[in-house]
Amino acid sequence: MTMPKPATRPSRPFFSSGPCAKPPGWSASKLATGSLGRSHRSRLGKARLAHAIESTRHLLRVPDSHRIAIVPASDTGAVEMALWSLLGARGVTMLAWESFGEGWVTDVAKQLGLEATILRAPYGALPDLGAVDFDTDVVFTWNGTTSGVRVPDGEWIAADRSGLTICDATSAVFAVDLPWDRLDVATYSWQKVLGGEGGHGVLILGPRAVERLESYQPAWPLPKIFRMTKSGKLIEGLFRGETINTPSMLAVEDYIYALEWVELQGGLTTMIARADANAAMLDAWVSVSSWAEPLAADPATRSNTSVCLKFADAAVAGIDEAGQRTIVKKMESLLEVEEAAYDFAGYRDAPPGIRIWCGATVDSGDLEALGPWLDWAFDQAMQADRR
Ligand SMILES: Cc1ncc(COP(=O)(O)O)c(C=O)c1O
Repeated sequence: MTMPKPATRPSRPFFSSGPCAKPPGWSASKLATGSLGRSHRSRLGKARLAHAIESTRHLLRVPDSHRIAIVPASDTGAVEMALWSLLGARGVTMLAWESFGEGWVTDVAKQLGLEATILRAPYGALPDLGAVDFDTDVVFTWNGTTSGVRVPDGEWIAADRSGLTICDATSAVFAVDLPWDRLDVATYSWQKVLGGEGGHGVLILGPRAVERLESYQPAWPLPKIFRMTKSGKLIEGLFRGETINTPSMLAVEDYIYALEWVELQGGLTTMIARADANAAMLDAWVSVSSWAEPLAADPATRSNTSVCLKFADAAVAGIDEAGQRTIVKKMESLLEVEEAAYDFAGYRDAPPGIRIWCGATVDSGDLEALGPWLDWAFDQAMQADRR
């Protein structure tokens, strides 16, 4: 017997893990456009960029000791700028437990050719955080977007470290309270928790990272878009909105709109509460699901943004990995046609399963409506598999 179609659709079927859902109520017509068609170095352009930086500082509670820049090439650009500019001065420890962390390992070990200590864990787990040597520089991802596993907090990061911490925080920022005193470098992009546009990265540097930049010259060449110093001094203008090259002012205005939405909702505390409530709503469905279970084994490490689910063994008994990926594809296309849910397939390198974005721009009522649709789609896909 086939399961009937659920009666209620999510009103906004946007569950992609990046670009993520726009803030509720967003429309392109609501964006300020005065800075478009103008130079980003005009008084207005610079003022808008500086405003984006200062609102970021206010909303994320970034202390005055830390500098904030808008940089090219999204989160990847921001992370690679930091890796290329800072590493090589001392040993380095890389933490990797999913695809993005692995990407930074490739950068450091293969491209920069550094002898790194690599602490790895398989999808669903975290490496041993107690084994990290903070006399080395430490590179890690706060929230592993492709496995839905995040570090539980910042307590494992040594307060008295001599190395730097470089944190890819792209799917954590605006969803967790980041301990700025433990992060010498943090990066993110606008298209995740804020539902902004892709293209630009945010790079946040603590005083010890700046000290490194001003006292250390890497052995390798630095392309122009990575350069943060001139004649051994930090280029301070970069942290006031004087970007290295031309930003999209439309993306900047969209980011400012999202920041204003955050402020109107009540700021960071509300953003974290929305993501937590969303993840709890989805979890209520998972806990009674007969076929989906969390990929993250330890509840303390489960993401409140990129929630990754795998198939329960019994539900897909006898179906190999390729077959399970086909089921996910089928579910995704069924729900796209129904306009009930978009873009929820798990990441291509992750174990087969689904990934539902629960960040603050998603409404929890839509997650409540989603569960029955996932059940319906799984049922349909399994029937197709049996035929
Ligand atoms: C943890 C993490 N790091 C890096 C990236 C790459 O981000 P971008 O496309 O903004 O460069 C992503 C994108 O999903 C991510 O989730």
